[in-house]
Order: sequence, then structure tokens, then C-alpha cells
Amino acid sequence: MLSSRQSGPPLFGRLVVIGLGLIGGSFAKGLRERGLFFEVVGVDLDAQSCQLAVQQGVVDRCESDLAKACQGADVIQLAVPILAMEKLLGQLAQLDLGDAVLTDVGSAKGSVVRAARRVLEGRLARLVPGHPIAGSEQSGVEAAKADLFRRHKVILTPLAETDAAALARIDLLWRELGADVEHMDIEHHDQVLAATSHLPHMLAFTLVDSLAKRSENLEIFRYAAGGFRDFTRIAGSDPVMWHDIFIANRDAVLRTLDAFRDDLDALREAVAEGDGHHLLGVFTRARVAREHFSKILARRAYVDAMHNNDLIFLAQPGGSVKGRIRVPGDKSISHRSIMLGSLAEGTTEVEGFLEGEDALATLQAFRDMGVVIEGPHHGRVTIHGVGLHGLQAPPGPLYLGNSGTSMRLLAGLLAAQPFDSTLTGDASLSKRPMNRVAKPLRAMGAVIETGPEGRPPLTIRGGQRLTGMDYEMPMASAQVKSCLLLAGLYAADSTSVSEPAPTRDHTERMLRGFGYPVSVEGNTARVASGHKLTACHIEVPADISSAAFFLVAASIAEDADVLLEHVGINPTRTGVIDILKLMGADISLENLREVGGEPVADIRVRSAQLKGIDIPEDLVPLAIDEFPVLFIAAAYAEGRTVLRGAEELRVKESDRIQVMADGLQALGAQVQPTPDGIIIDGGRLAGGEVWAHGDHRIAMSFSVAALRADGVIRIHDCANVATSFPNFLVLCQQVGMRVAQEGKA
Ligand code: S3P
Repeated sequence: MLSSRQSGPPLFGRLVVIGLGLIGGSFAKGLRERGLFFEVVGVDLDAQSCQLAVQQGVVDRCESDLAKACQGADVIQLAVPILAMEKLLGQLAQLDLGDAVLTDVGSAKGSVVRAARRVLEGRLARLVPGHPIAGSEQSGVEAAKADLFRRHKVILTPLAETDAAALARIDLLWRELGADVEHMDIEHHDQVLAATSHLPHMLAFTLVDSLAKRSENLEIFRYAAGGFRDFTRIAGSDPVMWHDIFIANRDAVLRTLDAFRDDLDALREAVAEGDGHHLLGVFTRARVAREHFSKILARRAYVDAMHNNDLIFLAQPGGSVKGRIRVPGDKSISHRSIMLGSLAEGTTEVEGFLEGEDALATLQAFRDMGVVIEGPHHGRVTIHGVGLHGLQAPPGPLYLGNSGTSMRLLAGLLAAQPFDSTLTGDASLSKRPMNRVAKPLRAMGAVIETGPEGRPPLTIRGGQRLTGMDYEMPMASAQVKSCLLLAGLYAADSTSVSEPAPTRDHTERMLRGFGYPVSVEGNTARVASGHKLTACHIEVPADISSAAFFLVAASIAEDADVLLEHVGINPTRTGVIDILKLMGADISLENLREVGGEPVADIRVRSAQLKGIDIPEDLVPLAIDEFPVLFIAAAYAEGRTVLRGAEELRVKESDRIQVMADGLQALGAQVQPTPDGIIIDGGRLAGGEVWAHGDHRIAMSFSVAALRADGVIRIHDCANVATSFPNFLVLCQQVGMRVAQEGKA
């Protein structure tokens, strides 16, 4: 049941619902319970449905005369079968409908709109075509449920002529029913529905029919396992309604069906030829695409359910930091393992892969380009490399979520492919500067378009011949360096990148690990085309950027003693350790070893009284991702900490200087942001409310801050922690920190 509306008298006079089946009946019943209309009137050819509708409180009354029902109505909902729509619209066109808004619930929109254009000319401004995606195998008014549409999508497909007030009215009604309303253009709607709903129904109907009519003793049903039942559940849907839908949405259904038939033929061929590689490719791509997208959607659904776009962490003061933990795999190395493994010849095995959304976005992109990748399963990934020239055109834009590394590194690689590609991302990635890669790539001969001001999306034209160049990077960026080295694998002559300060060198190391020659002289790395990558085994160490939260947590908490296992300590990444040690932290490295070309150690950290320092500028690029949590260390240190030369922080997942300054100030700290850094006077932090602005590292930094705060810290917009550190809250709990997702204590 929907809760009754909080306020006041009905907003509108009369709602008329024509067609009292499951959908029309549920619409009528829900709105009647919400009290939005003075009266709800039903019209249905079937007298018994009318009777039931009144008895069950679906409508106030029924009316057999269409003209009487509609005269003076405010909203008329057409919930009749889709092929009956034209006739009904014709009848309505004869009536004086005054100002009434007409809307419908048809599952295909093109045919309804074409019919309306034929008969309703002159009234199109008051027509709002709609489609609630809330079907079920049940039908009839007896199945009507007031909350049928709650948390379901309703797609409205207004015409160019539809007036804004009419659209707003129908939008409001569906929202009152708890639906999640979206607007779409008609063709797009019909194509999307053909793929997501109409084709699956067609397959379920045919599969059951085809098997049932051939098996003499109905064996398939006797031995049907759960999978068959799940898959064919929708074959129990209303045959007449579906007959209507396939006829109404013919063109879009045929397009989708033809594409599917091609894929099915290819699969048949693979079975016939014993082509296991093809089968494995299809199955792994399908499985992972399903998991990847349902995870992202589930997270969004949770956030939507909270009625805003917010996932909040509550961080309580006074926890402890004790024990041994292993933080997830290194994000930078995980991205590169997929990229180079895909371009290698042979099968690359990866262990310790980070199963966070950013690295998974890279993995999905390569699957979309035809690479067969198994896993990840407990950090293990098997990549069946296609060689430097084996990538295929992706079927559509590559969506890279929040991941700047994916977008910038892929840009270099894709600039040299024979096919076109488009790279897109979420709201935060869509604001990040891409000219830093687009400009030098263009100088190598690439054809790349960006959005306004050099922002994503990136559209990359394939088939260009790139020429190598010697590039002096204006900023210290490992992403730019890696992007150009990847393009250099394909460019004529050689490509070199010189950096103004050392940045992480995982690309250079890993290329060598795959047997590709890279020369490094001073601050310049160089590659030439004409070599190949040979598959290898990669063990991804734990990410020092994730370990950093516990380095600071254990330093500031009382009585802390924690061992962080198997952390990557590549010298281009250990700035955070050097800075904390300069501040007086008690950190020691144990069990130093080298794994797959990367140095690794266990890191032990114990509590220490930190002191403020001037952070040496040469350490900035070596600790670039760790500054948010270093600012927390500074806020509890004795004295002043000054950071300079770190303007790059302003173009990360958020403006990390401003966002951290705002948060720290909200907790009572003395901080002064500067154009290229920050000044922090150490002291105490109070509890309070802070905003992570969708930046994973800000969310985790304030979680750490709570350890020594005087009150609870409530951190907004934390959903993106899943991009780099999906089990952050679990590990916090494990060491005794008291951080949890609000509402899920
Ligand atoms: C990364 C490089 C850095 C870093 C990012 C990962 C990489 O970015 O901030 O999280 O994997 O190459 P910049 O190259 O923009 O400094």
C-alpha cells in the first residue's frame, strides 16, 4: 500500500482510465488511494471488470458512455491493448475533451504516436505518451495493485508539440505512485525496449514452443531445472498483448532480432567447429557484463532508494587500529595488467587484481574490444591476449565510469587502432581535462575530438598513421606519459617522454616484464614500434595509496599497531612514507622482496605524535594520491604543515585542495588553501558534516579523521569508495575503526 498523501484536498477533478486491466487498474487504484483526484472513473468494455473495479476500490465508479466519462476530465489514461489504440483515439477525436491531458501505457511508442498524428491532429499538445515498465504474468483488474509502479521505471516520450504543463502533470502522477520517471525520445524508447523486453519475450515464447512441440512426453517440463524455469518465466505472459507489441514495434524488433541471429549463427558455428575460444569469449563477456552492470545499477538503486544521490559514511571517534590486514591490489598496476595482457601474445595470468570499479571499467572496455578475459575471481584474471593488432571495434561508446587512468591510457592506445572509438565517463570524469593527452597525441598524427574545453567525451578516429615524437611533459603526470608510450608502440620511429619530476613508472616496468624494450635515461622514457608483447604472470601488490589510509590512521590513533601486508613500495610511489616519516611517524618496512618487477614489503605502523613540516616539493608527484589523508595527519600534527607545488590536486576526481579545505574547516581546523597547495595549522578536530563530492579518497580520509575527532563525522557522497577500495569499511572494522554506512550499522 502506498502511504496516503500528506496534504490537502484533491489537486485535480477527474481521472478517467480506459481499460481496467492490470496496468490501467493499478494506475487508477494507486491514484485513488493517493487522493489526487476528486473522482476516478473507469471505462471498460467488459462489464464484469467494471463491477470488480468498483467492488475492489480500483475506481469510484464506472461509466459505459465514453463521451460522458471524458467530458470535463483532467486526465484520460488510455490503458487498452496497443492495437486497439488507434480506434480509441479516433473515438476520442470526435469528443469535446476540453483541456484534458491524454496519456497512455503502450509498450511501444512509435505506433501509438503515428496513430495519434493521424487522428488527433490539433490536440497533440495535450498528449503525453508513456510506458510503465512494470509488467507481470498476472493480468486483469483483479490483479491491480496500488503500489505496482513503486520503484519501477516509467518512460515518458513527449512529442515536440507536447506542452510543458501537460508533461509536468503526467510526470507528477507517476511520481506520486512511487515510480522513477525518465523522459526519452520515441525511437530510442522503441529500440531500447525491443532489445531489453521484446526480444527476450520472443525468445522465451519460441524456446518453450519449440521444445514443447517436439518432445513427445513433455520431458522438458518434467526434468526442467531452475535455470529453464527462470529463463522461460516470461513465456507465461499474455499472448494477445505480446502479439500486439510485436506488430506495433515491428522495425525495432526486426533490427534487434537480426543482430541476435547473427550472434546465434556465430555461436552455432563455434559449437560445430569446437571453437572453445569463441564460446568462452561470449560466456565470460556475458557473465561479467551482467555482474558489472548489475553491481553499478544496484549501487545506484540503493542510492535512489534513499531518495537522493547520497551514500553516507558515519565515522565514530575513538576506535582502534590494530592487527594485520592486506589492502586490495594496486589500481595503477591492475589497469596496466589488463591493457598489456590484452595486447600480448599468449595467455596472461594476473593475481591480486583490484576488483574495484575503476579497474573493472578497463577490463570491461577490453572485453568490448573482443578480448576474452576470465574472472576476476578472488583477484585472479586470465587474459587471452590478442596481440598488438588484434583489438576489434567496440559495439558502442566505452563507458569508463570514474576512471581517469582508463580514459587517458586508452586514448593513446585507441588513437593507433584501425577503428573509431568514443570514450565516456561519469559526471566527475566528464569534468576532467583531456587536452593534456589529446594535444600531444594530435602532434603524433592522431585525430581526436573532445567535448568543450577539452573535457570528455573523447571521439577518436581510427586508421591514422602515427609518427613518434620527443615530448617534454609540461606537468608531472604518469597518465600522460603512459598514454604516449602506449601510442608509441604503434608510431613510426621512436617516441620519448620526458618528465619534469619522477612519476610512477609501472608502465615502463610492465612493458619490460612483457618483453617489450623500453629505455630510460635520466628523466626520459623511450619506446619504438616493431616489437611484441609476450604473455606473462603478474602478481599485483597491495596498493600503497589504499594502505595510506591506515598509515595515517595508525599514526594518529592512540595505542595503534598495525601490519599492512604485501604493499607495493615502488620508489615512485612511496612519497607518503617519506612525508609521514618527516612528520615523525613510526613506520618500518619488513620482509622486503621483489615480485614481478615491483618491490614489495610489509609495513608496520605504530602511533606517534606527528609534527607539522614544509613538504619537500620533490615528494609531491610521489605522493600525489595520498594528500587528502596526509592533510588529516597535518590537522592532528603539532605546528604548521605547508604544501606547495601541488596544483595537480585541483584536477583530480575532485578539486582536492578546496574540498579538503572545506571539510577540515567544517570540523574546526585552521587551514588556508592556496592556488598550488594548502597551509594547515595542526590541533584538534570536532565532529561534523563534510562532503566528499564523489571523491573516493576524500571519503576515506575523513573516515580516518574520526579516530581522534571530538565527535561523529558524517561524510556525504561516499559511493565512489567502491572505485578503488571496495572493502574499505570491512577492513576498517577489522582493525577496530568505527566507520559504517549510515542506515546499515
Ligand atoms: C595514475 C597517475 C596519477 C594518479 C592516478 C593514477 C596512473 O595521475 O593520480 O590516480 O595510474 O598512472 P596523473 O598522471 O594525472 O598524475
